[in-house]
Parts: sequence; structure tokens; C-alpha cells
Amino acid sequence: MRTRPIIIAHRGFSGRYPENTLRAFEEALRLRVDAIETDVRSTKDGALILIHDDTVDRTTNGSGHVKDLTLDEISKLDAGSWRGEEFAGEHIPTLAEALNLIEGEVMLLVEIKEPDTTHAVIETLRHHMAFGWVNIVSFHSKAIKLTKQNEPEIPCALIGGKEIGSSDGTFFDFVYDTLNCGANSVMVHYSTLTPKRIHYCHERFLSVGTWTVDNRDLAKKLIAMGVDAIASNFPDVMLETMAA
Ligand code: G3P
Ligand code: CA
Repeated sequence: MRTRPIIIAHRGFSGRYPENTLRAFEEALRLRVDAIETDVRSTKDGALILIHDDTVDRTTNGSGHVKDLTLDEISKLDAGSWRGEEFAGEHIPTLAEALNLIEGEVMLLVEIKEPDTTHAVIETLRHHMAFGWVNIVSFHSKAIKLTKQNEPEIPCALIGGKEIGSSDGTFFDFVYDTLNCGANSVMVHYSTLTPKRIHYCHERFLSVGTWTVDNRDLAKKLIAMGVDAIASNFPDVMLETMAA
């Protein structure tokens, strides 16, 4: 049997449901994706919650910076209505709620947006006995280094944006940053990838994940190049593409 890239539901099944909510995670599980990705930030009182932006403005009926709001204030916000009235009442979940829901049914990629939350994230994962079914991913090599120093068995990926793709040299520098912080994989913007660069990672036993791919033709091209994982807002489309 030929292996295929793993499909990651980016912020849950966020193309059709409100991102980073329990509903988006449940719908991703229903699809039988391989993995779910989510973003972690800390509230004013130190609770770990799942939200991409550093403010609640875009994805809730509230406003303000996450770091200036308490968990109590945040949990009262509606995180569903902005995507449609049928989603009214969805809330911003805590990391613990997502871990309780997913419980190892699929892999969970936990993106650390704020490196100073790393210890708290690891403790929450430990409490839920989740080391065997999570990856820690981050744009911040400091978060990966801290994770690997404390819990080397947690698989980690360093994330790279469009800027690392400007030349082979900048991409290879990013690969060295990845190796240096102890990560096991790169998770890079699709525009940065070429067959040569993917091979360069594979030679160094780094697997290659890419984001955020919502288009069938692009997915086919990346699969032909040899990517190991694809994060998509439309994991349904990605799974259909692979079945075809
Ligand atoms: O997994 C990588 C990807 O999620 C990084 O971008 O901005 O969607 O968190 P962003
Ligand atoms: Ca993310």
C-alpha cells in the first residue's frame, strides 16, 4: 500500500464551521481526518484557551485583547454567530475541553502562539496523558526548544511562513533552525516548497507539513512533490482529492 499525506483540519473544520470551536473539532472528527490543528493563547488569569488572533474581535461578539480578559469574561462570548446564526452559542474552548473531546481519537497539533505559555501547555497535556497523541507546533523556536528540553518525547514542528521561501538559502537556513531547536518536522507555507527543498528535509529525517491548502490542484501538486502532511480549512475536499 502506498502511503498518503496526513490530512490536518486547520483550526478544526474551519472552512464550514466557526474556527477553533468544539463544533469545528467535532465535525473534523466526524470526517475522520488524521489530525486537528488549533491555536493556544493565555487569558489575563492564565487559562489556556483556543483562539487564533490576539484579540476576540474577529471571531466573537466581544472586543479586546485576549491577555486583558479573564476566562470568565471570555467564556461568556459568542464565538459562533459571526459564521452564521445556526452556530450561535458556540464558545471559545479551553485547551482542556478540546483534549477531553479529542481524547486520542486523532492527533492534535497544538500551536503555541505565546512562548511563555509553553510550560503550562505541557502541564495540561501531561494532566490529560496526551503526549502520545499531540504535536507541539510554533513559529517560535523558543517554544519548541523549551518543549524538547522538558519533554523530549513530544513531537514538535517549527512553522515557517512565506518569507522562508525567497531562496534555497533562506529555506535551508530555516531547516537548520528547525534542527537546532530539536523539532522533528517543518510545517511551512505551501508557496515555499519545491521537490528539492522537500528532499533536503527528508535527507535530514525531517517530515514536511504544509499549510493552508484548500485547492484540489494545489494539493495534487504538493502530493506529487512528496509532502507528508497537509493542513486545510476544507479537509473534506482534501480527503476526497486523495480518494480520487
Ligand atoms: O499550522 C500552521 C498554521 O496554522 C500557521 O498559521 O496563522 O493559521 O496559525 P496560522
Ligand atoms: Ca495555527
